[in-house]
Amino acid sequence: MAYAAFRSIGAYVPKKILTNEALSQMVDTTDEWILQRTGIKERHIAATDETTSDMGVEAAKKAIERSGIAKEDIDMIVCATISPDYFCMPSTATIISNKLGLANVTAFDISAACTGFVYILSIAKAFIESGMKKNVLIIGAEKLSAITDYSDRGTCILFGDGAGAAIISATDNKEEAIIDIQTGADGAFADLLMTPNGGTGSPHDSLEQEAAGCFMQMKGNETFKVAVRTLTKDVVEILENNNIASADVKHFVPHQANYRIIKAVGDALKMKEEQVVLTVHKYGNTSGASIPMAINDIYESEELKAGELLLLDAFGGGLTWGSALVPFSPLKK
Ligand code: ACO
Repeated sequence: MAYAAFRSIGAYVPKKILTNEALSQMVDTTDEWILQRTGIKERHIAATDETTSDMGVEAAKKAIERSGIAKEDIDMIVCATISPDYFCMPSTATIISNKLGLANVTAFDISAACTGFVYILSIAKAFIESGMKKNVLIIGAEKLSAITDYSDRGTCILFGDGAGAAIISATDNKEEAIIDIQTGADGAFADLLMTPNGGTGSPHDSLEQEAAGCFMQMKGNETFKVAVRTLTKDVVEILENNNIASADVKHFVPHQANYRIIKAVGDALKMKEEQVVLTVHKYGNTSGASIPMAINDIYESEELKAGELLLLDAFGGGLTWGSALVPFSPLKK
């Protein structure tokens, strides 16, 4: 049987920085409020002419280069995004495949909001274990600034842009394999986080209404409570199911939505500070890109070493959630 190994990571962060101070000139908020309630100091914003696929391509190039696997051997590309280059079609994954010069690959997008990266990791694992694919490029890429309402202080302080990518490839060595992935969803909470317009669920009354309804809307406080409850339950379950103690996790990489959510889940698991990977202060919430961007941070700062165990945990619109136990298994040591 083939197993799926997490071979490499790459990320791209756009240059422009949007600080809390700058946001406080745009809406009725303060640096102090944002920092205390979310832990966010700043976030990066893509250039006007920079697309989600542009960022995904940059992240993918790094992941491919670091993987030791030839670009031509990639047989599938899956992109997790809620801010695609084009709504409906073509998919951002197909645009990325073209920009990378990869023809004849399977390429598609999935929509699972902030849980997107855990979902595409599970898709890569399933395709590899079934023998259908050998080397899968997975990408979480978001230009959330394009779907953010910068007059809504409840949401605009939270989100940023960026991309992260990984190569998942087949191996015979069980020691290298992704141990387990759990994913779930509950559409009963669909209205907590949504972009109401632009789809078949809303009548197209007027252009003005459409534009406003295409931005993200969130019931923040309710979402917060469900997030803490769900994330904690999810990670406890995956650790118990696999007989792994939280002390054996080298890097706990939660979705970076809010420092208070991360702290509550980390405390419930009795995680030490040095186990918990934090990037929310500098990138804000980048949805499907947040987990690979965080893994890339510890890779580039040389804190992530071959064989170390990552615990991923995510929660987002849908509602969706997911967790994964993933040894870092690079071919290049
Ligand atoms: N500046 C100042 N005051 C604010 C701001 C702001 N930016 N935003 C809201 N407030 C006010 C509210 O109006 C409210 O005022 P009131 O008491 O007079 O009514 C007060 O602050 C408290 O508002 P809450 O919404 O209760 O604040 P809370 O502590 O819950 O923090 C936040 C809000 C940061 C949004 C938090 O609820 C949160 O992080 N929620 C979860 C987000 C999340 O995890 N989303 C899932 C992933 S995202 C995805 O899938 C795309």
